Amino acid sequence: MVSVSMDAQEEKTVKTICVAGSLNVDLTISLPRFHQPGETITGTSFCTYTGGKGGNQAIAAARLGAQVMMTACVGRDSHGDMYLETLAREGVDTSCVRRAEEEATGVALIEVDASGENRIAIAPGANACVDRAWIDRCEEDMARCGCCLLQLEIPMDTVLHTAERMHRRGVTVILDPAPAVPLPDELCRYVDLLTPNETELALLTGMSAGTDDQVLEAARTLLARGVKAVAAKLGSRGCMYVDQERVIRAEGFRVDAVDTTAAGDSFNAGLAVGLAQGLPMAEALRLANAVGALSTTGFGAQGAMPAMAQAKELMRR
Ligand code: RIB
Repeated sequence: MVSVSMDAQEEKTVKTICVAGSLNVDLTISLPRFHQPGETITGTSFCTYTGGKGGNQAIAAARLGAQVMMTACVGRDSHGDMYLETLAREGVDTSCVRRAEEEATGVALIEVDASGENRIAIAPGANACVDRAWIDRCEEDMARCGCCLLQLEIPMDTVLHTAERMHRRGVTVILDPAPAVPLPDELCRYVDLLTPNETELALLTGMSAGTDDQVLEAARTLLARGVKAVAAKLGSRGCMYVDQERVIRAEGFRVDAVDTTAAGDSFNAGLAVGLAQGLPMAEALRLANAVGALSTTGFGAQGAMPAMAQAKELMRR
């Protein structure tokens, strides 16, 4: 058990959060609009940011004051150096971040349009080197955590193995099924909380997920496959939590979004930190919505991830 630095008078004791996942460097161009195949258009800016769904979740959780460890892999290149420096600066434990000799650090090519929406293409590089053997090397440290955050930017076999190991060790498993691909039934049985967005929910279930009723119906089919609970991310509309007994609908917060990259990652971090603090589910979902919303108010995946005080201020408004 470790302490997290929240508002001084509200400091509580929570378990460390472990993130096993991707570290990418995001090469991001802002564009007036998305272009058509074969068309070349001129962007308004280009920036290089640290990103990747795993790294984003780790840094968002650390900004909220949680103790965070990262299990991942970067290349022995300048992008890898850049990422390790960023993680260290953010206070994330990097003792389980491997450096691959044979692969470059993962890269994401990101386009952001004038409304803040994005398109992303990824070259996984060293993320593909996060394998069963590396998880086994890190297992004892990871098993000391209260919760393990997973996404799908490392090999599915590794995600399955990690979820199985953490489940057996009594660590809460939160899986963000992004980028969406069909999930093996076995994996579903190890997942305590699955956090798809509407598109991912539709892909995972083969059902529509455009309305609240459809989201509820689709989420229930995932419970039937063994997932213990679903927190469906509904963008600016907030989220819907569904387990065997409860349905909780938490409304989103209005903000001026400029870049929605990593809003979902920030949501997951907020949810994990809220639960690690022992908040009731409805409050943890509210915190997650606030963290996700605030993350969209600046450029880059990690540029506007809030501190706990900022999230609380938005929730008070
Ligand atoms: O979720 C956003 C992330 O997706 C980006 O940071 C990019 O690296 C891709 O992994």
